[in-house]
Amino acid sequence: MNTIAVRIVSKTQEAQDIAGFELASEDGQALPPFSAGAHIDVHIADGLVRQYSLCNDPAERHRYRIAVLRDPASRGGSQAAHERLSEGDVIQIGAPRNHFELGPADDYLLLAGGIGVTPILCMAERLAKTGARFAMHYCARSPERAAFLDRIAGAPFRDRVHLHFDSGAAGQKFDMAALLAQAGAGTHLYVCGPQGFIDHVAGSARGAGWAEHRIHFEYFGAAPQDASGDAAFEVKLASSGQTYVIPAGKSVCNALLEHGIDIPISCEQGVCGTCITRVLEGTPDHRDLYFTDEEKAANDQFTPCCSRAKTGLLVLDL
Ligand code: FES
Repeated sequence: MNTIAVRIVSKTQEAQDIAGFELASEDGQALPPFSAGAHIDVHIADGLVRQYSLCNDPAERHRYRIAVLRDPASRGGSQAAHERLSEGDVIQIGAPRNHFELGPADDYLLLAGGIGVTPILCMAERLAKTGARFAMHYCARSPERAAFLDRIAGAPFRDRVHLHFDSGAAGQKFDMAALLAQAGAGTHLYVCGPQGFIDHVAGSARGAGWAEHRIHFEYFGAAPQDASGDAAFEVKLASSGQTYVIPAGKSVCNALLEHGIDIPISCEQGVCGTCITRVLEGTPDHRDLYFTDEEKAANDQFTPCCSRAKTGLLVLDL
């Protein structure tokens, strides 16, 4: 996978437990263009790659901005980014990719939960520039835990941003039902944040009769996994007929790598889809956030970076 060397020009405290990083190309060249909703792979340390949404104005080519929440529930990536990445460091990143692109709509409802504000703010910047109709709602536990409040307060679209704090008064609380009731038939909603927030927003919209094509979302990070019941299983490679044991506590990707079988990986959290592998026999135990429920039910592919097996053996198209 091609990477780009960038320097960390600044590392700032954006809010409690949220660090902001500004990245510029090491050779002074313009960075690859991106669109609102895009993310980059950040190589934090050897073998540790995490994805972060870009949160600057997509018109900018001289820098990328990301924000990282220190999340105790994460698998080490956010902690490492906070501790190991410092101003002046040169790191490798991937070119921007976008699975959360803005599409055409009469009106946009942009909803951010916590650190999910990063792509949503970028979308607001973009929509404000194009003169589109939109409203942004930003939910956070408290003002201390909300990033970019200064930036929002100084933005030309600040009157279209509504802040909702769990710690705040009843009148400012986030009311999804009221938003849905006010939205017109041509409104599309874009939501990013923790899984519970997205499930609440998307579930409410579906419950109010919104068609699926009007609901756009991006999960931020992997869902918490309970690995306590994990057991060993075997995988067989269709090409060689060779069988390998995948012990509890080790991913299929990591176990196979020890035998020289290198499946491309990126997020290692079941979010990006880089590692997707076809399953020819056996039933995977899907633990990703990438596939739809229908795709999971087909059981003909899985994400070996995090998913396991419900049967004793999986035969893989490798
Ligand atoms: Fe991202 Fe497996 S590496 S889904």
